Amino acid sequence: MSHARYDQIGEGYAAYRRPDPEIQRRIDVALAGAKSVVNVGAGTGSYEPEERYVIAIEPSDVMAAQRPPERAPAIRAFADDLPLRDQSVDAAMSVLSLHHWDDARRSGVEEMRRVARGAVVIVTYDPRVSAKVWLLADYLPEVAALDFATFPLPETLVDWLGGATIEPIPLAATTPDWMLGSFWAHPERVLDAGARNATSGFARQPESVVRRVVDSVRRDLGDGSWDARYGYLRQLERFDVGLRLIVSPGLAR
Ligand SMILES: C[S@@+](CC[C@H](N)C(=O)[O-])C[C@H]1O[C@@H](n2cnc3c(N)ncnc32)[C@H](O)[C@@H]1O
Repeated sequence: MSHARYDQIGEGYAAYRRPDPEIQRRIDVALAGAKSVVNVGAGTGSYEPEERYVIAIEPSDVMAAQRPPERAPAIRAFADDLPLRDQSVDAAMSVLSLHHWDDARRSGVEEMRRVARGAVVIVTYDPRVSAKVWLLADYLPEVAALDFATFPLPETLVDWLGGATIEPIPLAATTPDWMLGSFWAHPERVLDAGARNATSGFARQPESVVRRVVDSVRRDLGDGSWDARYGYLRQLERFDVGLRLIVSPGLAR
């Protein structure tokens, strides 16, 4: 079960996964005039708008327990069975959650569309792009395969939503949200167990795979071969690691 997964891997999430200002800004623009917003897979409260009425849906107790007291309390429910009436909120949002919904991904997205009068806003990954970044391409093909199995293609989401736009969100090297994509400019994070464990990509791998990747990256940093191949990335401010903003405009405001 997907919430049990976060009960196992969610410990320490809030310390490493703080909201990225550019992602926050893009979500706020997409939510436009919405006064009430349901956040599905709300986790520790990252990216929840502060000036709107928020309903947080979060099945994992370990994640809900890390929500700051100023955030809305989380309702323990699942994406594919939202405890809300049809068109009862202005907008629905979900950030880096739907790849954990297993067989309920389509029904969960359709639930978001059902309950929102206006925009449905989803932040997700395009697995075709993330698979090309050095970490997945050269060291961690297991996560590339997992991503292809769990992240619906953006075009599929557009289809499920009955129409939506797709926009890339290039990820800043300085992002405070240390998602796996943020490792693009920071190979040293592979050597940091706390950083690794705050990403579901690493946390879902067997210990033997993690050890192999850590040993390989440590070796390639030590002998300079990582920097010879990818050192130019350290000079870039932003990079497209596959992060995508999907916005379905919905019925009416
Ligand atoms: C990577 S975290 C993202 C949390 C938060 N949205 C953020 O951006 O920091 C994924 C979240 O999705 C939640 N989740 C997993 N399965 C779910 C489901 N079926 N329905 C709703 N949320 C789910 C997990 O418990 C976890 O809190």
